[in-house]
Amino acid sequence: MPKLTFLGHSAFLVEGEKGRIIIDPFLTGNPLAKSKPEDIRVDYVLITHGHGDHIGDGVQIAKANNATIVAPFELANYCANQGANVHPMHIGGAHEFPFGRVKLTIAHHGSAAPDGTYTGNPCGFLVTMDGKTLYHPGDTGLFYDMKLIGEMNKIDVAVLPIGDNFTMGIEDAVKAAELLQAKKVIPMHYKTFDIIDVEPQKFVDAAKAKGLNAEILPIGETLEF
Ligand code: NI
Ligand code: MN
Repeated sequence: MPKLTFLGHSAFLVEGEKGRIIIDPFLTGNPLAKSKPEDIRVDYVLITHGHGDHIGDGVQIAKANNATIVAPFELANYCANQGANVHPMHIGGAHEFPFGRVKLTIAHHGSAAPDGTYTGNPCGFLVTMDGKTLYHPGDTGLFYDMKLIGEMNKIDVAVLPIGDNFTMGIEDAVKAAELLQAKKVIPMHYKTFDIIDVEPQKFVDAAKAKGLNAEILPIGETLEF
């Protein structure tokens, strides 16, 4: 069973039998992060969009590990220009990597790198490792195609942004959980900054009231799924 470790904000480490990946590795500059980029050992770095709280330490981690960055085409090119190994993909596309399968989904958001470079459309990731599927939607508003994503994929865990302002808030994230029909939903993208200081327990309570299996994964904790 793959192991999912929450590193804070939207950053997750996923370890399977065939490899280790990190998604949206924003560690430096995250006041709540407990891990340092130099402690991360991974084979691939998945990045949903160019915003600083998602690309984060991605290029540094990729270079230090001789790992490959998987990202939408324009963002992958930006990372390649910084000297990283990249595997560009785009929305709707899937690819089998040594560690598992990745498929890119839509995300309703923006994407520019911290230096202002436009990095195309943002994405979400469906990651299948050891027969289990994780959905990481990146930063996004609620969209009804989450129902389609749920119909076409047996999602074991979905991590959902709940912080409002830049992404879904709690009410919309609960609706997302309903549409996705994931076996378990975990909140992310909250409390890192004052503007997204919402209580994850309110999300969990609201999701449970709808009969959904939601839980908080504290920063630094690991869940097998
Ligand atoms: Ni963003
Ligand atoms: Mn963000």
